[in-house]
Amino acid sequence: MRTVNSWVPGWQTAGARVVVLVVIIQALGLRAGWSQEPVQPRISEEFLEQEKIYHSRGADGRRIYTTDRGLSRYAERLPSGFCDALGRLGSSDRWLDIGAGEGHAILDYYAPEGATAPAEKCGRSGAKPRAVAISIEDRRTDAWKQQAARLGDDRIRYLFGKRLRQYSPEELGKFQIITDVYGGFTYTEDLSQFVDKVLRLLEVGGGFYTLATGVRCEDGKDKLGSLYLTELEDAFGRDVKVCSWLKKISCVEVTCESKSDLERSTELIKIRKVCGDTSVPRMKLLEYEAGYPPGRRFQLDP
Ligand SMILES: C[S@@+](CC[C@H](N)C(=O)[O-])C[C@H]1O[C@@H](n2cnc3c(N)ncnc32)[C@H](O)[C@@H]1O
Repeated sequence: MRTVNSWVPGWQTAGARVVVLVVIIQALGLRAGWSQEPVQPRISEEFLEQEKIYHSRGADGRRIYTTDRGLSRYAERLPSGFCDALGRLGSSDRWLDIGAGEGHAILDYYAPEGATAPAEKCGRSGAKPRAVAISIEDRRTDAWKQQAARLGDDRIRYLFGKRLRQYSPEELGKFQIITDVYGGFTYTEDLSQFVDKVLRLLEVGGGFYTLATGVRCEDGKDKLGSLYLTELEDAFGRDVKVCSWLKKISCVEVTCESKSDLERSTELIKIRKVCGDTSVPRMKLLEYEAGYPPGRRFQLDP
């Protein structure tokens, strides 16, 4: 499944492409000493394609790289209990939205009372937490800038230019709620490292709310003729479900709600951190195909 086919003119000479590849791989933050190399040939070209998608604007004529989902669409795509959990947060608590796009969900949440439709009232309470939005590319709108200025005191922050794994714990701090709607969880090329980082940023007792689209569902009721986007296998090449893998993480409680009524078989996932010593079973990347969302295949370490 390839979604972008045209190369940027001027990248056509072999020398220039090697230089660009090195720069992009460094920007991606891939560790030079990866002990297990991905098996797919020319995978770095797929990373280049993916980088172009992150910085694309508008549709390519087929699908849209959607960056403007509001809070009601977050509520639809996240597990039940998300709005209640958001509503329980107090003014000293913190919410991190990974892969926030334009940050609409946070904007809806902070919109003045009466300025939102009832569907946008997810999690609204008197005292609001601080919120941090992160995105690889800067998609702040004028509405974001105005709202941030109106609220002041860094109540809502927008960080961009890096992937989640490139932030130090001090830069981000800890959070009671972390959300990810078609963000890093869907796009990363290192899923185990990504989840490990999320759990380190979560306070004990806090929750990570996300979804996995185009996956094998835990209840086995996958959409007929499903196209899988994220596939996991064990050391013998046998399929592993994303929720089975998540349930092997220590110090967490994982809840999965299978949804086969959406375009693709999808799991709505909640991970609650119950103690500090989390440990995520490692996986290596076997294949990556640029797209929105990308296709990925991982293999669990034996
Ligand atoms: C398809 S958009 C989704 C935006 C928003 N959540 C929404 O539903 O409208 C994907 C977002 O995830 C971000 N993203 C992808 N991988 C990421 C990573 N590893 N770390 C941080 N942001 C990431 C992109 O930069 C972008 O902001």
